[in-house]
Amino acid sequence: KKVLFVASECTPFFKSGGLADVIGSLPQYLNDTDDCEVRVILPLYSQLKSEYRALLSEVMIYHTEVGWRQQYTGIFEMIYEGTHYYFVDNEQYFKRDNLYGYEDDGERFVYFSNAVIEFIYRGDYKPDVLHGHDWQAAAAVAIAKIKQPVPGIRTIFTIHNILYQGWMEHAAFGQLFNLDMVHFSGFEWDGMLNLMKAALFHADKITTVSPTYAEEIRTPYYGEGLEPMLNYRSGDLLGIINGIDVNDYNSMKDDSIEVPFKTSIPKKRQNKKRLQKELGLPVSDAPMFSIITRMVEQKGLHLITRILEEFIQQDVQVVILGNGLYEFESYFSYLAAKYPGKVYTYIGFSESFSRKIYASSDFFIMPSLFEPCGLSQLIALQYKAIPIVRETGGLKDTVMPFNLYTGKGTGLTFANYNAHELLDRLNDSLVIFNDPTLYRTMFMNITKVNHSWSQSAHQYLDIY
Ligand code: GLC
Repeated sequence: KKVLFVASECTPFFKSGGLADVIGSLPQYLNDTDDCEVRVILPLYSQLKSEYRALLSEVMIYHTEVGWRQQYTGIFEMIYEGTHYYFVDNEQYFKRDNLYGYEDDGERFVYFSNAVIEFIYRGDYKPDVLHGHDWQAAAAVAIAKIKQPVPGIRTIFTIHNILYQGWMEHAAFGQLFNLDMVHFSGFEWDGMLNLMKAALFHADKITTVSPTYAEEIRTPYYGEGLEPMLNYRSGDLLGIINGIDVNDYNSMKDDSIEVPFKTSIPKKRQNKKRLQKELGLPVSDAPMFSIITRMVEQKGLHLITRILEEFIQQDVQVVILGNGLYEFESYFSYLAAKYPGKVYTYIGFSESFSRKIYASSDFFIMPSLFEPCGLSQLIALQYKAIPIVRETGGLKDTVMPFNLYTGKGTGLTFANYNAHELLDRLNDSLVIFNDPTLYRTMFMNITKVNHSWSQSAHQYLDIY
């Protein structure tokens, strides 16, 4: 099967979140199986680093219709680590300071989708399956189904986050699309155009990134208004848990880690001591907690801000890395200023610093409000930082609650979106940390966890 991934970000080229990690690792994994060939098509943002730009070659140039306008489109290709990538070039849309966050984002990704369909029409490459990811690729899924650029082409749409749907005014249907008016209702939702709804309406199959989230989004609390569509399509809806690239996230051979370790607690703790020194925290045996996150409401930060100051009155250290909403950035900066011996905050993102923190911390806090899959808790497990999470979406599917009596489980979990439930688990973590036998049991459980793509990629092969 020839499968074309349509997406708006992909490591190592462009990344704003976990979507990029999935698009950057799942195709390689599927391609290694010989059962299908996945190629990836992405926007050519100006952010592409010159080392990758040097690998591009031009495939074709054409015009893409956006309503009555004709927009330049250049298609470039690159083969990178065995996978074939296409890039859609148009500077008006993709030469920007950031990947997203513009008033015309809707138009930018409708253009992208139109250009992808045009590429399939005109080019020699004819995919059997078009697999779109998140709202930025949703229009491509709907249009592929309507226009059949390859007769009989099949479509799959994957929801990585249902919060972002691609809402536009009705008038955009005439201005940006080149579709017959009978298709208007497929795009219409609650008085607006909604690109994700159009994909949910048209796709042959719908997937999301964990079984629990696949259930949750059928309810009003998690469905963000699309739950009626998901219930209507529930026979074609499937949750497939994400994997991570375990060769890349490997505590034995990660350059960012000073003391490589696998099952040795003392070695892991040497990393902690070094990080304490580097960050100017007291060098001690105190348990270290980490928070590595986009600072948005989704990640449950309101629970943390409610109880963290109370919690750190005990002998603990907290290392925080991330950026996002000012509300959270300023809170974490304030806490670091007020408790310099306990809290260290870095506002921004650094891949290698984040890995060092995962490897050095004893516990990782992620109490998300909702979490389609979540990759950070998987990385934390790889680096043996015990996850403390809320039981939602992929967190529920990947972190097994520790049971004091049976000694089974890989993390500490709680059910309700309630700050004191989180505080209870944080206090439990101190009990575990201070009991070497219990801690060792949990640590060893975690060393047996496997979240590589080999656990779930075959489910994609099944649908293809
Ligand atoms: C989004 C979701 C996250 C998921 C990722 C990749 O970023 O918020 O939970 O892991 O997509 O699917």
